[in-house]
Amino acid sequence: MSLLFGTAAFNEEDHLVIGGCDTTKLAEKYGTPLFIYDVAHIREKARGFKRTLDELGVKNKVVYASKAFGCLAMYKLLEEENLGCDVVSGGELYTALKGGMSPENIEFHGNNKLKSELELAVDSHVGTIVVDNFYELELLKELTSAKNVEQAVMLRVTPGVNAETHDYILTGQVDSKFGFDVNSGQATKAMDIVMATKGLTLQGIHCHIGSQIFAPEGFLVAVERMMSILKEWKEDKGYIAPVLNMGGGFGIKYTEEDTPLEPEKFVQAIVEAVKGQCSLMDYPLPELWIEPGRSIVAEAGTTLYTVGAQKIIPDVRHYVSVDGGMGDNIRPALYGAEYTGMLANRISEENKSHVAVVGKYCESGDILIKDIELPEMVSGDLFAMVSTGAYGYSMASNYNRNPKAAVVFVEDGKDRLVIRRETYEDLVSLDCE
Ligand code: LLP
Repeated sequence: MSLLFGTAAFNEEDHLVIGGCDTTKLAEKYGTPLFIYDVAHIREKARGFKRTLDELGVKNKVVYASKAFGCLAMYKLLEEENLGCDVVSGGELYTALKGGMSPENIEFHGNNKLKSELELAVDSHVGTIVVDNFYELELLKELTSAKNVEQAVMLRVTPGVNAETHDYILTGQVDSKFGFDVNSGQATKAMDIVMATKGLTLQGIHCHIGSQIFAPEGFLVAVERMMSILKEWKEDKGYIAPVLNMGGGFGIKYTEEDTPLEPEKFVQAIVEAVKGQCSLMDYPLPELWIEPGRSIVAEAGTTLYTVGAQKIIPDVRHYVSVDGGMGDNIRPALYGAEYTGMLANRISEENKSHVAVVGKYCESGDILIKDIELPEMVSGDLFAMVSTGAYGYSMASNYNRNPKAAVVFVEDGKDRLVIRRETYEDLVSLDCE
């Protein structure tokens, strides 16, 4: 048996059930590949962060990093749960607004925001723009002065922390394309510019040290560095930050071997560190913001695939091909990410085969799971890959002109299509003859 998260269970027919819905019925109704999101699980994760921060007595804001998974229904859900969201493009911003997010709960991130994107953000009155570099500061100065408006901003800084994770998802180290460098004085220079700009209000500072982090140590070092910047700014310039934003990156369980710290424990460690530093340096406790993405949606998501061809190379490998692959989940190919899964239509049957589950894309690296024990399979079986809710659909591509999968939300025995499957017609809809 594989990992069962949230409301996942199996019924008397030995079928995987999520949110009270039999996944084999969902496959019949919507086809495969199909992303299934357990909405109760998302709510529980969202509330868990909020509750912990509230209980620790710190003013806070939980800002969901919507790059992990965003669509109209997801933004609506965030609004229901009283979460903010971070967006990193005009497209995400547009979707968030259309999904009903209150602009003041939106944070706009990105290392190369376009002028048109910044204009959309300012015109939409987003709560915060997290400024990443001097070029962006210039653009914002021009925009706010031309429009004669005030915009709240935060400065993203790179505190010089190496979190232990994949190189591509490391962001807090000095050698990074993101944020103002602290050591060379860039962060302080940016602060001076913001303070001297009439249309900009400095809400505080932000850092994000990386993603899929399992231990709190990196965050603790980052808190220390962030607080020492704030201390310097208080002493030298009399500036007191209303907000400290420590980003996201809390790790989740993809396989049985993964042992991430529980999200609440991360938050606890961060809050304690911030409180400790504040009392040490006699600094008023700032409002604490965090930006979890993966830890809110990853484990709530399952991808359902239909098994097709199989190839057995004696003494070498047994390939089981499914009807999706790197187009709906690039993470194994891109990061060497490991996943697990189960047969959704015979969930407790004995494992008899050692197989590689591979996709249908024209690429040898299109391997979803390289080694997994599963029951013997026949074409038409349903393979459920778990913990696919983050950076799966959001990084999907149309490689080989495969249409993008559909996405359903399930909750209390009800299913709801939230992103329809692409059609061949959709695929050619942007083409000009
Ligand atoms: N805040 C900022 C500024 C970020 O850049 C990110 C992620 C997050 C929050 C959310 O991090 P999370 O809690 O989801 O780890 N595509 C990669 C992950 C890239 C993360 C980029 N930034 C993957 O599939 O693992």
